[in-house]
Amino acid sequence: MLKCRSDNIVKVDEDHIIVFDDFRNVELTEKADMVFADPPFGIGFKANMATYNRSPDALSYVEVPSKEYPAFIKSLVEWCYTNLKDDGSMWLVSGWNNLRHVLDAVEDVGFITLNHVIWKYQFGVFTRRRFVTSHYHLLLLVKDKDRYVFNKPEHYAEDVWIIKRQYQHGEATAGNELPDELVERCIYTSSNKDDLIVDPVLGSGTTMKVCRKMGRRCIGIEINPALKGRIMRKLENTRLHGVNLNLNLSL
Ligand SMILES: C[S@@+](CC[C@H](N)C(=O)[O-])C[C@H]1O[C@@H](n2cnc3c(N)ncnc32)[C@H](O)[C@@H]1O
Repeated sequence: MLKCRSDNIVKVDEDHIIVFDDFRNVELTEKADMVFADPPFGIGFKANMATYNRSPDALSYVEVPSKEYPAFIKSLVEWCYTNLKDDGSMWLVSGWNNLRHVLDAVEDVGFITLNHVIWKYQFGVFTRRRFVTSHYHLLLLVKDKDRYVFNKPEHYAEDVWIIKRQYQHGEATAGNELPDELVERCIYTSSNKDDLIVDPVLGSGTTMKVCRKMGRRCIGIEINPALKGRIMRKLENTRLHGVNLNLNLSL
């Protein structure tokens, strides 16, 4: 059974729990085999809501002011390093704007970078006098360069992944949900069945949903309790430890 010390815990089942708190307040009693973290990008995402034509009831999203971003990301990477097993791996998502702070934090904390994956998506925000941003960075990090899980998804596995975002018609979302397929690929590569995956910035719960599908245990931490309904809706149709994996192994 999973355990962690915090006051606001929602138990999805014995192997899947959500903690509504700031990750910096959460103490885990078991270290993770893999951490997946898709933190706020520190670029005032809410200001983009109008551009995305999002309705005013779009779920709120806790951003980090850009001045505080270097310290925030350092605290996140430190927390993840502390809570990861010595042979564990971390996947860290970043946009390009604050990538320098992310790379500094990764190096300062002592992670080893195995890969710098580019995720190419569609629906980038239209621009007139610069190119449309249509990629994110995913860093694959380990603590020990000789000991880590690597389940290669295909024979010639490249570091540019073209994966479509789902368009959530009529759904109230926080506007920043990752596609299941992207998270599946990371979890497949860097963990095995029954491993413990920790997501300290869970958002709408994509990591939790994918862990339930793939038979991984999961602790998700999210500072914004308003996302609880969305997370639970996403988990409703998940087949626990099911086999309906949607891994596109032919990328
Ligand atoms: C980019 S979103 C994650 C989206 C997620 N990957 C998904 O697919 O739904 C980042 C999340 O981190 C949360 N967050 C911000 N600061 C946090 C903190 N200190 N502790 C925990 N969560 C935090 C935000 O509220 C937001 O929901």
